[in-house]
Amino acid sequence: MQPQLHALLIGEEDKIANLANFCAVLKEAFQWWWVGFYFVKGNELVLGPFQGPVACTRISFGKGVCGKAWESKSAIIVPDVHQFPGHIACSSASNSEIVLPVFSAQNELLAVLDVDSQFFNHFDEVDEKYLAAFLTYLAL
Ligand code: SME
Repeated sequence: MQPQLHALLIGEEDKIANLANFCAVLKEAFQWWWVGFYFVKGNELVLGPFQGPVACTRISFGKGVCGKAWESKSAIIVPDVHQFPGHIACSSASNSEIVLPVFSAQNELLAVLDVDSQFFNHFDEVDEKYLAAFLTYLAL
C-alpha cells in the first residue's frame, strides 16, 4: 500500500484533503479503531481530520498520550492504554495506541498522529517506522 498512498498524496497539494485521505487509507487498510491528527494550536492540541468514532477536541500540553508525545517530541507506543497514567479515554473500546509527532520541513512540531486499536498490544516499532515514513508523504 506504500506506493498507492504515496501516489494518492503526491497528486494533491491541499493539506486537509491529504490528511483526510491519509486517515481513511490507514483505517481501511488495517481496520484500526481510530486514526486521526491533533494540531498544535497555542498551548493545546486541537482535533483535525480523523476516521473513527467521535473524539475529544482539545488536549493540553503534556496530557494524555498525545500531549506526552508533543512534550517529548517522540513517538509513544502504549500496549495497554488502561495502564498509561493520564490516558484520555475518548472511546472505551480503545485498548492500545501509537502516537507520532508530525514535523514540518523546518522541523517544527505541527501535530501528532494518533492511532488507536480495539486490541491490546497492537503496535510496535515496525508500525512506528512505517507510519513515520508515511507522514513524510504529507510534506506539511
Ligand atoms: N488517546 C489519546 C486521546 C485521543 S483519543 O484516543 C482519539 C490520548 O490519551 O492522548
